[in-house]
Amino acid sequence: MSAEHTAASESRPTLDVSAIRAQFPILRQTPHGQPLVYLDSAATSHKPQAVVDAIARHYFNDNANIHRAVYQLGERATAAYEHARAIVARALNAASVSEVIFTRGATEAINLVAYSFARPRLQPGDEIVVSAIEHHANIVPWQLVAKAAGARVIPAPVDANGDLDFPAFEALLGPRTRLVAMVQVSNALGTVMPVAEVCAAARARGIPVLIDGAQAMPHGGTDVQALGADFYVFSGHKVYGPTGSGALWAKAEHLEAMPPWQGGGDMIETVSFTETTFAPPPARFEAGTPAIAEAVGLGAALEWLGALDRQAVAAHEAALTEATVAALSAIPAVRLIGTPKHRGAVVSFTVDGLHPQDVGTLLDRYGICVRVGHHCAQPALQCFGVDATVRASFGVYNTLDEVAFFADRLAHLVSRFT
Ligand code: ALA
Repeated sequence: MSAEHTAASESRPTLDVSAIRAQFPILRQTPHGQPLVYLDSAATSHKPQAVVDAIARHYFNDNANIHRAVYQLGERATAAYEHARAIVARALNAASVSEVIFTRGATEAINLVAYSFARPRLQPGDEIVVSAIEHHANIVPWQLVAKAAGARVIPAPVDANGDLDFPAFEALLGPRTRLVAMVQVSNALGTVMPVAEVCAAARARGIPVLIDGAQAMPHGGTDVQALGADFYVFSGHKVYGPTGSGALWAKAEHLEAMPPWQGGGDMIETVSFTETTFAPPPARFEAGTPAIAEAVGLGAALEWLGALDRQAVAAHEAALTEATVAALSAIPAVRLIGTPKHRGAVVSFTVDGLHPQDVGTLLDRYGICVRVGHHCAQPALQCFGVDATVRASFGVYNTLDEVAFFADRLAHLVSRFT
C-alpha cells in the first residue's frame, strides 16, 4: 500500500505523509501478513522516532532526580523537565509556565481539579454541568466529589446528530452551578463541541469551566487564553508523546487558591509536626518524583507536532474523516453513530447483523486496527440507543489509501456475514 495521499483538494495545504510515516517505525510491521492499518489514534497515537530518541537521550545522558541535586547532572535533568513545561505552556499559549501542571494524563488532571478545586467549594444542592457525551473521565471524578458533598452532576443533552443542544445547556446554568466541564472533541462520536461559546456562556454567569482537550490537542492544539476556559486538560500519549504524561493548564488565580491534592516531597516549603506550608504552583501540585522522562518526551512530541503545518494537519485529517464518512455511508448495513455538524478525526458506526466486537476481530485479520465497545463513554452511546460501536480514528500518519482499504474490507465483511 502506498502512502502518497496528501490532501483531498488542491485548495488545501498539503502534508508529506510519506515522510511522516517514515518517522514511525511501528507502522512498518505486518500483522497477519498485512500492512498495519492503524485507525485507533483516539485510543493512543504512535510515537515518532524523535520522541523515542528524546526519551532515550534523557536516560542515556541526563537522568537524575529534579529540583534536588546540586550536581551538574541533576541541574541538567531539572532544566530538561522545566524546558518541557515551557513547551507545553507555549503550545497552549498559557500566560505563564507556572500555570502548567504535569500529570499522568487528562484523567489525572481532571481528578486534580475535582479534588482540589471543586470538592472544597461544593455544598449540598450544588450542581456541576457536563454534556451527555463526555468520556467517563469527565463524569466519574465529578460524581465522586459531588456525592461526597451532596451535590449533583447534570448532563446537558445533545440532539439526534450528537451536537450539543446549546439552549438546553444554557438553561441548565443557574445559581447552583459551581462548574461546567465539557469535552472539546468527543472521543465516541467525533462531535466538535462549541467550547468557546460554552466558556462565554459560563463566564457571563461567573461559572468556571474545564475543557477536556484530550481529542483536540493532537489535531491542531488550543489557545487557552483565546478559549476563555479556566482549566484545560490533555494527555501526552494522544499527541504522539509517551503514556503517563499529560498536563493541566489552569488560570494562575485558581491555582494559587487551590490546596494541594496529594502530599509528599517537592510540594512543600517547610514541614514540621505543628505546621506544614506548601510550595507555590506548579510545585504544589506535583508531589513526589514526577514522570521526568515522560515530560521530556511530551515536550519532544509537542515540538515535533508543532513543526508540522497546522493547517495542513487539519486539512489532511479532515480529508481522511470525510472520505471515511462518505465510504461508510455507501454501505447500506452501516449506521453512523453521531453525524455532528463539525467532526473531529473520529467516525463511529454499527453494522446491522454484526456485533462491533466481531467487526473489530474480523478487520484485525486484514491488519486493520479499530476500537470497538463503549469507548469509555457509555452515556454518549446510550443517546443513540446502542451500547457499543466500531470506531475508526485518525492521526497524521494515516492515508486515504488506508481509508479506501478499510472501507473495501468492511464492505466485503458485510457482504459475507450479513
Ligand atoms: N480515551 C481513549 C479512547 O477514546 C482511550 O479510546
